[in-house]
Amino acid sequence: MPEPAARKQRPKYLNLMAIRLPVAGYASILHRLSGAGMFLMLPFLVWLLQMSLSSPEGFQSLGAVAAHPLVKLILLGLLWAYLHHFCMGIRVLLIDVHVGVEKSAANASAKAVLVVSVALAVILGGALLW
Ligand code: HEM
Repeated sequence: MPEPAARKQRPKYLNLMAIRLPVAGYASILHRLSGAGMFLMLPFLVWLLQMSLSSPEGFQSLGAVAAHPLVKLILLGLLWAYLHHFCMGIRVLLIDVHVGVEKSAANASAKAVLVVSVALAVILGGALLW
């Protein structure tokens, strides 16, 4: 029996490296990754909170843990994830109410989200972690 035309035209494999997304596509992927990353790191953050609230000694230990460069890097990553997710979340909600849906506005807001979240992460991370 002959194959249907639609099945014949299907690509044999999908080359992810050849796909070119608009900037909003990358910002959107990062929105999902940052949301998932924050969710997965919640136990770590709750552990830090629990340590800080347990006793004055626990609070001192938090200072020592947070002084470790690897912990600082993780916290900086989480700070950026939150800022990107927050800024992108506001953008998504605005687009949901039809604000900034035109192609040029949507491109500009996606670029703004990427730049603003990195800039805020550097400024706040520098002030809070170093
Ligand atoms: C106050 C800050 C936040 C805002 C404004 C916000 C906003 C949003 C919005 C609007 C969406 C839907 C995106 C869409 O429809 O494409 C979303 C998805 C999501 N958010 Fe948040 N969010 C915030 C904080 C968080 C936090 C703290 C977490 C994790 C602990 C989180 C985890 C997620 C996840 C996992 C998704 C699903 C992502 C996806 O399916 O692409 N969000 N957020």
